[in-house]
Amino acid sequence: MKKIIIAIDGFSSCGKSTLAKSLAQHLQYAYIDSGAMYRATTLYLLRNEVLPANEAGIKKALQQIDIQFKRINEVNTTFLNGENVESEIRGLEVSSHVSEVAAISTVRRSMVNIQRTAGRQKGIVMDGRDIGTVVFPKAELKIFLTATLEERIRRRVLQLEKQGKNISREEIEKNLQHRDHIDSTRADSPLRQAEDAVLIDNTNLSEPEQLAMTIALAQERMIKENE
Ligand code: DC
Repeated sequence: MKKIIIAIDGFSSCGKSTLAKSLAQHLQYAYIDSGAMYRATTLYLLRNEVLPANEAGIKKALQQIDIQFKRINEVNTTFLNGENVESEIRGLEVSSHVSEVAAISTVRRSMVNIQRTAGRQKGIVMDGRDIGTVVFPKAELKIFLTATLEERIRRRVLQLEKQGKNISREEIEKNLQHRDHIDSTRADSPLRQAEDAVLIDNTNLSEPEQLAMTIALAQERMIKENE
């Protein structure tokens, strides 16, 4: 069976990574969380006090950043220059700055190169904002996930509570709206649905329902590839 590339894009806290992980596991494909790459880069820039306007500093930093993913106790874990930063990159500090960093073209070029290299052998599920439009415009299956803002806030509150982080609902709403705005209005690779993407609104869908839908779509595309 020939392997395919599956691109999953959508707004923040739509459940992209949950779906992408389960799908990759089911198909025994690799999974890449492209948002984690922008988050790890943001953490590096914050720690080293490199401001978004400092073009030379950003270029230098990108040469010094090595991002790896490893599975630890069944959990996809992000490493920045050998350090496990999985928890830190999900915090509010990184979340509040990541959209500004992801709007920098130099940063995007570097991330897209790494992402394309990871997809060279196909057999990959990647989630993000520009995967179907920019990173893999020829991906065999593209999914665009959406959910209402209310539902996304509810899921984010639950996720943060599980991690023991106590952040107010208002703060979460502000952060989500801020990121949505920057992600979809930036000049370079704004978030948008690719013309050939399948739109799934998962507001009222359970995780197993979404997984079943996407497995069926993937199988359909794989059969087409093998014809
Ligand atoms: O999916 P996430 O919330 O972890 O993504 C973090 C930020 O990174 C988000 O604000 C948008 C940006 N991002 C992007 O611009 N392009 C991607 N392919 C993935 C994420």
